[in-house]
Amino acid sequence: MTQTSRAVRIHAHGGPEQLVVDTVEVGEPGPGEVRIRHEAVGLNFIDVYQRTGLYQNPLPLTLGMEGAGVIEAVGPGVMHLKAGDRAAYAAGMPGSYSDLRVMPAMNVCQLPDAIDFETGAAMMLKGLTAQYLLRRCRPVEGLEPGDFVLFHAAAGGVGLIACQWAKALGLRLIGTAGSDEKCALAEAHGAEFTINYRTENFAERVKDITAGQGVKVVYDSVGKDTWDGSLDCLRPFGLMVSFGNASGPVPPFAPGILGPKGSIYVTRQTLFTHINSRERTQAMANDLFQVVGSGQVQIRIDQRFALTDARLAHESLEARKTTGCTVLLP
Ligand SMILES: NC(=O)c1ccc[n+]([C@@H]2O[C@H](COP(=O)([O-])OP(=O)(O)OC[C@H]3O[C@@H](n4cnc5c(N)ncnc54)[C@H](OP(=O)(O)O)[C@@H]3O)[C@@H](O)[C@H]2O)c1
Repeated sequence: MTQTSRAVRIHAHGGPEQLVVDTVEVGEPGPGEVRIRHEAVGLNFIDVYQRTGLYQNPLPLTLGMEGAGVIEAVGPGVMHLKAGDRAAYAAGMPGSYSDLRVMPAMNVCQLPDAIDFETGAAMMLKGLTAQYLLRRCRPVEGLEPGDFVLFHAAAGGVGLIACQWAKALGLRLIGTAGSDEKCALAEAHGAEFTINYRTENFAERVKDITAGQGVKVVYDSVGKDTWDGSLDCLRPFGLMVSFGNASGPVPPFAPGILGPKGSIYVTRQTLFTHINSRERTQAMANDLFQVVGSGQVQIRIDQRFALTDARLAHESLEARKTTGCTVLLP
């Protein structure tokens, strides 16, 4: 049986004006697939990269990599879900800006009853990212309670989750943000120190805060604007985790600069390597469900838009007007 769904798509790369609401056909799930009806959809900065063409996918493209809803049908071989289940996902294949979609079941998890759909839609991509950053990206000298780390864009979607989770792990998180209000928000969510990187030199402040030592890990999703300063925040053998490009991609650099800065390590990470198996996706999701369920990490949804207003949501996100998470409601 074929149904129809609204889908927010792009037919060409460009600005938020490229987002249009189309009607698409949705069929039955094939082997290893499910059909899910969305109750809420998560907005992520990666949706902007896909809209602009920084990250390339075939067109026309329905955006969106995060959502929550009810499973309508499962294809052959899907054992962990059944029709009627509440579910949520972060997935590498875009398409969540829709009422209904068919997608691979691998990254779709049952959503615990205690977690509502909006929270489920807001937290999977951003929460699993905080999970792998804090729990799976290890500096060579280990990461222990009491260690300093630096987290850029700390008042954003991933940022506020990371502030709380880092505190629960006993890490001393220094957060940067683009306004004093955002800095206060990050502190209220567990950042021990914050730096307004629009008005202060964050590398100098980090050296002051750490008594000249530097941090063990820098988590940098801002990219171009923070790259150089971030390398100067690390202590010897520290780890630079580049995981985004909100200000633009990191320009090419010479590995030779890493030695004099303290034999530091650099890695570029993506969630989709970490969630490339059902078992690991579920294990990471269980870890996230545990910290959310226990209240150690609260998922803060500061913006809600109708699905058909996705354009306005993109404009807010890119203008640095949002804090915490944003959901689109079908
Ligand atoms: N690699 C991965 O696995 C992975 C997974 C998820 C997310 N990410 C990345 O993590 C970052 C956070 O994602 P999110 O969805 O939670 O977004 P977000 O943090 O809610 O929004 C991005 C934030 O980046 C900051 N920013 C700094 N310079 C900017 C600029 N020139 N333009 C726009 N924003 C700028 C802004 O905060 P301030 O105003 O405070 O500076 C803005 O609010 C993004 O870069 C995203 O691509 C990577």
